[in-house]
Amino acid sequence: MNDTLTLLMNHRSIRKFTDAPVSGEQLHAIVSAAQMASTSSNVQAYSVIAATDPELKKQLAVLAGNQAYIEECPVFLVWCADLYRLKQVTAEPLQERESYETTTENFVVATVDAALAAQNAAIAAESMGLGIVYIGGVRNRIAELSKLLDLRSSFIRYSACASACPTRSLDSVRAFRWNPCCT
Ligand SMILES: Cc1cc2nc3c(=O)[nH]c(=O)nc-3n(C[C@H](O)[C@H](O)[C@H](O)COP(=O)(O)O)c2cc1C
Repeated sequence: MNDTLTLLMNHRSIRKFTDAPVSGEQLHAIVSAAQMASTSSNVQAYSVIAATDPELKKQLAVLAGNQAYIEECPVFLVWCADLYRLKQVTAEPLQERESYETTTENFVVATVDAALAAQNAAIAAESMGLGIVYIGGVRNRIAELSKLLDLRSSFIRYSACASACPTRSLDSVRAFRWNPCCT
């Protein structure tokens, strides 16, 4: 196996963190890798918010179902399906046609784009020896979370946030996977 396959095969979610910081350089590399993910029609229909402020992370942890590791990790990335930006840039050209934010198709485009970017970020973080866990719990109280993070209306309606906490791992348990089937 090559290094990339070994990295992928060793993935596991991390929910305990040391207090070692994630450097600006590391964060930049993680987000840059995310931006290199494939994206439908190259529209990049997602945005990411990096929460590092302790009080903000504390509130996010509560909104996500009291998941304490959100507060404990040094950087909490909130990945958002984002049709608001596209709505802004296409407002004039699309005047006579359906807008970017009103179709199920574009909801799918944005959620898939956000997930692909988040997964690239997750792999990039793991490649640097950092640990990650996705937090679907950020959607539990989406209206309150959107207000807290000052997300625009299109975010609120279409938010599908996948979140990762890049940091160093202390321990981990490998999750069970069905064996791949090769016939
Ligand atoms: C979209 C998504 C949302 C998730 N939400 C949570 C969550 O809110 N809290 C949590 O502890 N783990 C969450 N997870 C992590 C999964 O529980 C974990 O990936 C799964 O159990 C497999 O374990 P592994 O990642 O260690 O292989 C989420 C994973 C994904 C992909």
